[in-house]
Amino acid sequence: MNEITVNGRIYHFDDSLLDKKLLNYIREDLELTGTKNGCGVGACGACTVLIDGVAKKSCVVPLGKAVGKSVVTIEGVESADGTLHPLQQAFIDAGAIQCGFCTPGMIMKGLDLLEKNPHPSREEIRKAFSGNLCRCTGYQQIIDAVELYIVRTD
Ligand code: FES
Ligand code: FES
Repeated sequence: MNEITVNGRIYHFDDSLLDKKLLNYIREDLELTGTKNGCGVGACGACTVLIDGVAKKSCVVPLGKAVGKSVVTIEGVESADGTLHPLQQAFIDAGAIQCGFCTPGMIMKGLDLLEKNPHPSREEIRKAFSGNLCRCTGYQQIIDAVELYIVRTD
């Protein structure tokens, strides 16, 4: 049996799933549908999760590559009592969510960025999100949201 930790919970799966996309395992087997399937080929970022703390596009990660690792999805970001993560709240307050399809991936990518660089410049934020597509917002509010988060949590 293989083991994976998702949002702090340990799951086991047999070798028949090793080639399954991590994205599909998360959505179909674990029924965590917050992680979105946009393009399925690594081009849009909607499927972004953290694997051992690093943002990865889960549609291009075979489950076998995540064996023994710790995965965090958007469902694992809020606190135990259901309070949104401050970055999620900042996205809402900055108007960075319209249809919301890109948002889980944006949040995960944003968390990765802020972990590596707690005070990114506007240009650094823009660059960090260059692999995450949004059809709705024009990106400005997403960058505003990260800046709002920084101001609030500093
Ligand atoms: S669904 Fe994975 S990058 Fe688009
Ligand atoms: S809010 Fe709709 S794709 Fe980003």
